Amino acid sequence: MTPIMPRAPENFTSSVAYLAARRRNPIEAWPHQVYEELVVAAPWSRGPIFLCDPAIVRQVLVEDAANYARSRIHDRIARSIWGEGLLTAEGARWAWQRRTLAPGFGGDIDTLVGKGATAPVDNALRRLAEQAPVGPVIPEPLIREAVQAAIWSLVFADESPFDPALANSLGTYIAYRGGGRIGDLIAWEPVQRWRRRHRYPAALARHVDETLSRMREGAVAPVGLIGLLSGALDPDTGLPADATLVRDNVLGLLAVGAETTIQTTLWALYLLAMTPEWQRRIVDSTDDTAISRVVMEALRLYPPIAYLPSRRAIEPRTFGGIPVAAGSKVVIPIFALHRHERLWREPNRFDPDRFAAPPPRGAYLPFGAGPRVCLGSRYASALVEMIVAAVAGRFRLGLPAETSVRPVMRATLACQGLSLTMEPH
Ligand code: HEM
Repeated sequence: MTPIMPRAPENFTSSVAYLAARRRNPIEAWPHQVYEELVVAAPWSRGPIFLCDPAIVRQVLVEDAANYARSRIHDRIARSIWGEGLLTAEGARWAWQRRTLAPGFGGDIDTLVGKGATAPVDNALRRLAEQAPVGPVIPEPLIREAVQAAIWSLVFADESPFDPALANSLGTYIAYRGGGRIGDLIAWEPVQRWRRRHRYPAALARHVDETLSRMREGAVAPVGLIGLLSGALDPDTGLPADATLVRDNVLGLLAVGAETTIQTTLWALYLLAMTPEWQRRIVDSTDDTAISRVVMEALRLYPPIAYLPSRRAIEPRTFGGIPVAAGSKVVIPIFALHRHERLWREPNRFDPDRFAAPPPRGAYLPFGAGPRVCLGSRYASALVEMIVAAVAGRFRLGLPAETSVRPVMRATLACQGLSLTMEPH
């Protein structure tokens, strides 16, 4: 069985058709060419240029990164959600926030994951076991809750019990704002300032503010990622980090961390449900490479960040003979890079053993690359491995006959429509 592929058009037709397809599902707007050629320019004036040449991708993300600014519209959307936190900041403001948060992802990663995820994963397994005898199970709600609880614990440690309603309010909000709103098109700064001021799900924002205040008053220990932010001094002012900036970061971490990890877990379960032999290898305690290979392959076939936010060239360049004028928009379509015919053998096949050797250089970027590479990559991989191994250890997974899963890129590459048959071992 071949894992589901998006429907790709034969060719680019017009900018209008492309934009309409992109609005429905961006990965269904890229024609076959993007999977076959290393540099592809859409054939209309100022159209996007898709880059799948590992050397050029490296140039854009690492060696010549200063020549590529994030696109203005993307920046506006991102700032209207994340304000000035790590996800959107640039230059020295970005470097300081990254340095502040990095220690929160260090140390023994299995211990860190185990601490916050053991109880939520046990809870999810118990509830899956209740649902499994009744018929196919829709795993998304329980996986969502387990991942949200784990990341909540990474952010707040023991100082704030997990609150699913608050965590979900963030998901609803991202689905609304991230879906693109008319306000994103308005460049006039007073409008954008107003949008930034009114950007938070209110109850969750209050919760972050109150936790921060209690930490700063010494009422609770400064633990978790919020504890690191609570103790950080802003190099511009010499004062403790502004409460708005802490809130921007906490909400950003909760959202970006949970959505990407939830979808990776669902895609890995989908792929395993098709391949009993890989379920056996995971359960077989003598094969300790199986689970990490499966998760790496799930991230290759269905990278949750299916393309990196588009970047604008500041100075002109030439890529593979194609001129890139100043102001051109370049897109790194990670989904296509991971399935590119010139870079991968049988690119659409689920074959975790391809990771017995390192992947082709620069062709595997589920966590991005360069200075802005994902801060949570080790944590996320370990969490997905833990959940998937626990589920496969408890149940034999299968796909019901009427399954129709579809990859849809919203804020992340969603595994829409997944249900599983789950038979206890
Ligand atoms: C499988 C799960 C995940 C995937 C596939 C993923 C992917 C990515 C990618 C591709 C980027 C780079 C975006 C760019 O270059 O513009 C990124 C950035 C980031 N990720 Fe992740 N991520 C995952 C999980 C997490 C988790 C669990 C956390 C934290 C709880 C996290 C925190 C971040 C942060 C803070 C950044 C911004 C780093 C910076 O700009 O310096 N991610 N992620």
